[in-house]
Amino acid sequence: MVLQTQEPILAAYTSKKVNIQTFGCQMNEYDTDKMMEVLRQENYIYTDDCKEADLIIVNTCSVREKAEQKVYSLLGRLRPLKERNPDLIIGVGGCVAQQEGTRILNRAHSVDLVFGTDNLFDLPGMLEEVHRGNRIVQTERKAHKQKVRNFIPDFAFENTSKPGLKSYIAITKGCNNFCSFCIVPTTRGLEVSRKPENIMEEAVALVAQGAKELCLLGQNVNSYKAGGVDFVELLVRLNEIEGLERIRFTSPHPKDFHEQLAEAIENLEHVCEHLHLPLQAGSDSVLDRMKRNYTLQEYLEKVEMLRRRLPQVAISTDIIVGFPGESDVDFERTVKAVETIRFDQIYAFKYSPRPGTPAVDYDGQLEESVKSDRLNRLLALQEKIVAQKHQQLMGEVLEVLVEGTYPRDIRSRSGRSRGHYPVVILNSDANIGDLVTVRITGTKKYSLEALSLQ
Ligand code: 5AD
Ligand code: SF4
Repeated sequence: MVLQTQEPILAAYTSKKVNIQTFGCQMNEYDTDKMMEVLRQENYIYTDDCKEADLIIVNTCSVREKAEQKVYSLLGRLRPLKERNPDLIIGVGGCVAQQEGTRILNRAHSVDLVFGTDNLFDLPGMLEEVHRGNRIVQTERKAHKQKVRNFIPDFAFENTSKPGLKSYIAITKGCNNFCSFCIVPTTRGLEVSRKPENIMEEAVALVAQGAKELCLLGQNVNSYKAGGVDFVELLVRLNEIEGLERIRFTSPHPKDFHEQLAEAIENLEHVCEHLHLPLQAGSDSVLDRMKRNYTLQEYLEKVEMLRRRLPQVAISTDIIVGFPGESDVDFERTVKAVETIRFDQIYAFKYSPRPGTPAVDYDGQLEESVKSDRLNRLLALQEKIVAQKHQQLMGEVLEVLVEGTYPRDIRSRSGRSRGHYPVVILNSDANIGDLVTVRITGTKKYSLEALSLQ
């Protein structure tokens, strides 16, 4: 398909509208923010309404099949817009784009542009090509190439995050772990760490623009290492930033979670007492076939070590049910692990076979109904645990970062505790961004109610 060429001089002076639809993880949200920054310099302004957009970008996720299907069905729904407005440009970025490349152009005829996870800073050039009437695919992996040449690449980590009360900073990208179910090492490439000075500069700038909380992003944050600085040292440096109240990170890999990091969470004032530590399964044979490189016992010992230091720490996790060959006994081990550990939050997923990953070819692929039953059982168990945890928090004094007004009652405020619990403060006139000390006075299914003590 050839698009009409637009007048470049005219285009340069008229502001155009872009709509970005984001799927998947926080890394994708972060990439969307970066795309927006790049596009703002090209005179684009953001619109929530894809019907009025001149450019629509779908930032995709391929970590589970559902997310991938959603992308194609969205592209189908966007097609009539393109038929009505042939000048509309539709771009696809993110992990599906990285993986599928040209196949997307063949399958979705309304798409003009497909770009990979390392290519978003080339958007202006790519858009120019599209204006010249070409449909293009750019999925060249830059980070990896640069790594081979022994650079620590920073092009992919420009200081372009959206300033906000809570801001994200990518500190690593890619992953070297190759868990047998996971597509991330294929779509995002091998792990590279960003220079510490660059991270610090971005963090300081975000705080100066009003960020009170920073969340460090990476597929395996605790293997961060660059310029002689490891993850703990990076936390130490970030903790010093004047005006920064809270630091979170996601996610560390259990095999690399060690006492020094637990110590850092314990001792660094601004690092929140909250750890997301993906368990994935409670059976050693499943963990082994997942290539997770730890046993349940090792995981339990790490949790115990952390709780010994910090009894109030909140721990969340990811769990996959229905991994190939997961027997009833294996699944019971996961249930038992969840009962024993009593996580504060669980993200549970049905195993989704991802083409290109080893586990797709494993024997013992399970029926959808088995996966659904196991998922439902796990979620029901977790619901009970959360209700009990909420009860235990009654009367406790917690610190809440106020993020907004609770939609159903303008006199209340909503925010999160340091342990990442959603809290509604009743009858409060606190401002967004305030840190408020509260006492928990009630519990709801998904949140806690509280009164301010100030
Ligand atoms: N199927 C189901 N869940 C998956 N995850 C990653 N790959 C898959 C897959 N193929 C889950 C893991 C990971 C989280 C981000 O997504 O639990 O920790
Ligand atoms: Fe995927 Fe495993 Fe890397 Fe996490 S650690 S991104 S699950 S390969």
